Amino acid sequence: MRVHVSVPATSANLGPGFDTLGLALTLYNEVGASEAEGVSVAIEGEGATRLPRSADNVVARGVKLAYEAAGRRFTGCALECTNRVPAARGLGSSAAAWVGGLVAGNALLGSPLTKDALLALAARAEGHPDNVAAALFGGLTVSSASGPTVTAVSLPVPAGLRWVALIPEVTSATAQARAVLPASVPYHDAVFNVQRVALLLASLWAGRPAALAAALEDRLHEPYRLRLFPWMPEVVRAARAAGALGCVLSGAGPSLLAVVAGDDTPVAAAMEAALRRAGMAGAARRFDVDTAGAVSRVIG
Ligand code: HSE
Repeated sequence: MRVHVSVPATSANLGPGFDTLGLALTLYNEVGASEAEGVSVAIEGEGATRLPRSADNVVARGVKLAYEAAGRRFTGCALECTNRVPAARGLGSSAAAWVGGLVAGNALLGSPLTKDALLALAARAEGHPDNVAAALFGGLTVSSASGPTVTAVSLPVPAGLRWVALIPEVTSATAQARAVLPASVPYHDAVFNVQRVALLLASLWAGRPAALAAALEDRLHEPYRLRLFPWMPEVVRAARAAGALGCVLSGAGPSLLAVVAGDDTPVAAAMEAALRRAGMAGAARRFDVDTAGAVSRVIG
C-alpha cells in the first residue's frame, strides 16, 4: 500500500498567542509513503541537498513514532518528500515534517490513532503545540498543553482577511530564538498579552477585524527576539503604514506575517522595501488560510 499526505505551512503565535495560536497557510509539503525493509527518503524542493535521507529524517521518525504508538512493528519505509515550506524561517517546516510522518504512518496502518493522539505525539516531538495543531487541524488553532495532554480547537477565520508572509533569505533556529527568552516576565506584561490574545480571538469571532489593530501586539517574546531580528520594527511600521492591521513575528522568526483587511499588494511591496533598506534579502508571499490541515489518501 502507498499513501499520500499533504500538510500545510503554519505561522505560530500571531503576536500575543505565544505557544498557543497557530494559523495554517495554503503552502504544502507532500509525502508519499509505503512500508519497506529499511528507510529510504527521496527529497525534492526545500532542503533537498541538506536534509537526511536515512532513519534520522524527521518525516521517517514521524512514521516510526506512529507505528510505536499503535503498538506495531516498524521495519522501515520508502518516502518521497516534496518540500515547499521554507526551512528554518518560522513557517512550521519542522511541524510539517513531524505531522507529515505521523499522518503517513497512521494511514499506512489503517488509521488506528485519533487526531488527538497524533497531536499529543507531534507536540511532544516538536516541544510546543502551536504549529503542529494548525498543521493537523487547519484553520486558526488554539492549543494548550498540560503535561502530555494537549487540547486544541480549530476556529474558522474570516475569508476577507489576507495574510502576507515576508520571508527573509536568512534562516534562524527555533532553539536559538527560544534561548533569548527570559525565565519570567513582569506581571503587567502577562496581563497585556492576556488582553490582546483574548481580543484577537473575540475580534475574529465577532467579525470585527478592525479590532485586530489593537490585538496583534506582544510582550512575551517579540521584544526579546528583536536582538536577533533588529530590522523587525521598521518592517512592522512599513506594513502598518501601507494598510496592514498588524504585523507579527511568524513563529520564532525570521519571517514576519502581516494581516490585511483590504488590498494586500501595497503591504507586500512595503514590507519587501523595508527589508531591503535594512540590507536584507527576502520576498513577500501572500497566502490564504488552509482549512483542512493534513490530509491523507491511499494511492495504491
Ligand atoms: N511558539 C514557538 C516559538 C513557535 O515562538 O518559539 C516556533 O515555531
